[in-house]
Amino acid sequence: MPTLAIIGAQWGDEGKGKITDYLDENADMIVRFQGGNNAGHTIVVDDKVFKLHGLPSGVVRPGKLAVIGNGVVVNLDDLAEEIEQVKQAGGSMDGLRISDRAHLIMNYHKKLDGAEEKYRGKNVVGTTGKGIGPTYQDKIARIGFRAGDLLEEDLLKDKISFILPYKKDLMAMLGAESCSCTNETLLSKMLRWKDLIGDRICDTSVLINEALDDGKKVLFEGAQGAMLDIDHGTYPYVTSSATCGGGICTGSGIAPNRLDKVLGVVKAYTTRVGEGPFVSELTGDLGKELQSKGGEFGVTTGRGRRCGWLDLVVCEHASRLCGFTSIGITKLDVLNDVPELPVCVAYEIDGQEVKHFPASISKLSMAKPVYENMKGWKGWKDTSALIKGGYDELPGEMREYIEFMERYLKVKADIISLGPDRDETIDRRNDWWY
Ligand code: GDP
Ligand code: IMO
Ligand code: MG
Repeated sequence: MPTLAIIGAQWGDEGKGKITDYLDENADMIVRFQGGNNAGHTIVVDDKVFKLHGLPSGVVRPGKLAVIGNGVVVNLDDLAEEIEQVKQAGGSMDGLRISDRAHLIMNYHKKLDGAEEKYRGKNVVGTTGKGIGPTYQDKIARIGFRAGDLLEEDLLKDKISFILPYKKDLMAMLGAESCSCTNETLLSKMLRWKDLIGDRICDTSVLINEALDDGKKVLFEGAQGAMLDIDHGTYPYVTSSATCGGGICTGSGIAPNRLDKVLGVVKAYTTRVGEGPFVSELTGDLGKELQSKGGEFGVTTGRGRRCGWLDLVVCEHASRLCGFTSIGITKLDVLNDVPELPVCVAYEIDGQEVKHFPASISKLSMAKPVYENMKGWKGWKDTSALIKGGYDELPGEMREYIEFMERYLKVKADIISLGPDRDETIDRRNDWWY
């Protein structure tokens, strides 16, 4: 089955955009299946930098179908801006399709996101403020607007007439910034959205399944990371979607037996944005150094990312939940010239050694990392020469580091990324199509 999914193994920002772009060269279709424009995926091709939020990475290469699946939440005002930016940077929008079942992020969702965060006080999640949680809440509560609704004016009028007053009451109750729109202004805005993207809205489950029936190659591009999954992540410090393997099927409308390969993207160290437990976090100068060397600032919010050592307890959790068949390791170059590299292989909680990532936030707050120390490697001058030399020419200590991860996770590192550019990549794949 010619499908490949790419999923972040940590708390997001692992370099999924770069790896998706590298691997989608031979794909016919790239599908986003969850999340929304809380994502920020960076793709660097020569001197061009694309920062994608709501669009699938496939828009960077002309000739691909780029699908926003039913599990995604879409802010059409932001998407319109992004479409313009990507067009100007040379991307192609011809292949963009949006699921008729994808839910729409409304302005009131953004306001409610901010108000809910304020309400939580010291329990703040540190969301991106994009309205993601409130949009998924409405989906589950069965009061959301779906992209397909834009094509039915009477349905829109009817839904607006009961949903908007309800949302206004809720905003007043939570002390959210008020929303000036009326039923009429909201309807005309939504009809403008229809003019903008109406001809791209379709049943994307049929589109994807027919493509697979025709032997086309489909790549599923995850957003966020396994540890931000609504069920399996560090709840409540998570996003509101299913970021792990199961989310691919529900979020794109394919059956589980359609799935073939799953590549986990693992950053060579760990980062997270926002609040929540982080056992291997470096809170001192070393953490700041990694942040600055790795350029660890959010693509969506600009916030500094918290940094720490590689945590294989986290990666094992992700691999088990997503079914990694191989991994891609990114940002190894950021660790150049660090003399010693501790790798977290277990947690000590209440005097007990724990190998599997626990559900309890209070247990996690007590957890101490158990490290195995690896030797660091010396940096290099010429990345393209290093890449030409291939895997065997990499510094021995780096290969040790990579092979330690492979042994722990029981999968091969097919992709080694040594810089942000598409070309700064060592490819160890055998015979897959991708
Ligand atoms: P994503 O959300 O998983 O797509 O990752 P982001 O784009 O938010 O963050 C990853 C950052 O690291 C981006 O600035 C990438 O350009 C950059 N990046 C990706 N791979 C590498 C790598 O191997 N080395 C370095 N130095 N930067 C990388
Ligand atoms: P990509 O796809 C890193 C985090 C937020 C916050 C939590 C909930 O670029 O890896 P939300 O706005 O989703 O309700 O916020 O999730 N978060 C991300 N962190 N990378 C992302 O996406 C993220 N998307 C959401 O910082 O802690
Ligand atoms: Mg990101």
